[in-house]
Amino acid sequence: MDGKVLPLAQQENELLQDLERVLYSEEEIARRIQELGRQISEDYRDKQLVLISILKGGIVFLADLMRSITIPHAFDLVGASSYRGGTQSSGKVIITKDVTLDLRDKHLLLVEDILDTGHTLNVVCEVLKIHQPASLDICCLLDKGRERTINVPLKYTGFQIPDEFVVGYGLDFREYYRNLSCIGVLKPEVYSE
Ligand code: IMP
Ligand code: MG
Repeated sequence: MDGKVLPLAQQENELLQDLERVLYSEEEIARRIQELGRQISEDYRDKQLVLISILKGGIVFLADLMRSITIPHAFDLVGASSYRGGTQSSGKVIITKDVTLDLRDKHLLLVEDILDTGHTLNVVCEVLKIHQPASLDICCLLDKGRERTINVPLKYTGFQIPDEFVVGYGLDFREYYRNLSCIGVLKPEVYSE
């Protein structure tokens, strides 16, 4: 290298080679988040909005979404672990961290990376209801769109995706791939190794 620093978008992340295909590029994600931010800013005008994200996968989405929202709002974090042995949900959800803000009478919008079986969001919603918010809704970047027995209050969706295991933009496989700027389908040989 001659000392020149490449713009982020032109740098090759070595994790890209583990992807079978890219579903959404950095630019496509950014465009959709701008649209969501505009809509949320309209819908929650003059309301006390608090965004709540779920550690760890949701924080990349939260960081971009909150900067595309143009009305005042606060945010808080919940820790939830949905024990997955590999790529399948076990259905068991453990809350590892509660919120710290006073959420009573606030309008809560849960900001989550992906909706699969709905178990995680269902448990987090139950925990948040204890705080007696004025309203509770969900903004999820990805929806696997599968049939669910659990009913979760999904108000905004970034993208509907096929029922495949995806990584990137906060989403991990065994804690890796969260730092990919795009969202892609992981090569099956990576998780069957
Ligand atoms: P659910 O409880 O089955 O809805 O699963 C939700 C959680 O599982 C998400 O918050 C993610 O952390 C994780 N998850 C579900 N699908 C995927 C995926 O395709 N890639 C990575 N993580 C996933
Ligand atoms: Mg998650």
